[in-house]
Amino acid sequence: MLEPFLKWAGGKRWLMNNNKLPIPLNFNKYIEPFLGSGAIFFLLEPQNAYLSDINNDLIELYKVIRDRPKEFSKELQIHHNMHSKEYYYRTRNNTPSDDLKKAARFLYLNRTCWNGLYRVNLKGEFNVPLGTKTSVVLKTDDFVSISNILKRAEIICNDFEQTVDLATKGDFLFVDPPYTVQHNTNNFIKYNEKIFSWDDQMRLKEALVRAKRRDVQIVVTNADHNSVRELYSVVGEYQQLTRHSVLAADPLKRGYTTEAMFVANLKHG
Ligand SMILES: C[S@@+](CC[C@H](N)C(=O)[O-])C[C@H]1O[C@@H](n2cnc3c(N)ncnc32)[C@H](O)[C@@H]1O
Repeated sequence: MLEPFLKWAGGKRWLMNNNKLPIPLNFNKYIEPFLGSGAIFFLLEPQNAYLSDINNDLIELYKVIRDRPKEFSKELQIHHNMHSKEYYYRTRNNTPSDDLKKAARFLYLNRTCWNGLYRVNLKGEFNVPLGTKTSVVLKTDDFVSISNILKRAEIICNDFEQTVDLATKGDFLFVDPPYTVQHNTNNFIKYNEKIFSWDDQMRLKEALVRAKRRDVQIVVTNADHNSVRELYSVVGEYQQLTRHSVLAADPLKRGYTTEAMFVANLKHG
């Protein structure tokens, strides 16, 4: 099984390993409108997929790995050999125009920046400081196999609504938006609010209700919060996911945190 090659905030790598993800027995196309590191796409390795995200640099990285995996590996190796604090900041402050170099720079910064965070300033320039990880090329890297899986997918930079609206009867839609809640008590979620507002959550809910009426098979994950449970109750059946966390706010739940999942139209057999 292939691992996601990116470290991504809100990545669903943990869900890959705990067998809690409901998966339909059969589906036509796999559709993921909030791709990020694509943990569930790599878990399922579907034959036919439509992958999208609003982050254009992220989408360009996937396309370069799909189309030029060997050249990409060589470019990444150059960053691996050159890595140092000075090199990191020099690379961060210069965006190449060439697609291949741009993609290798994206993964280099992702693997060496603070916590794999993706953040840009108002000019759209990546501004995350250097982190503690120093490995750029990993033992698990296999860009040729990743390319072979990605060749089965259309990969598009899109707002989620266009992608959700493409899904038709029998498709499997896995939906993992940035988490926001209507009344914030948690700073981490508040941070995300800048990029994904409560209005976006309502727009997503409406698009999912339309998809549900078209008999699309749907799994949505989101923050386990009253406002979210209320909003998405019309989309599908609520299930609670539990996972280990070092960041649990409630001392009674220390070591664990919960997330919400909503499931609709899943055909198990
Ligand atoms: C929680 S992450 C998805 C994580 C993914 N499931 C994984 O395993 O890595 C949410 C993603 O939504 C993307 N995003 C934010 N706003 C969006 C929008 N309006 N339309 C499409 N994608 C959006 C972000 O760029 C981010 O990659």
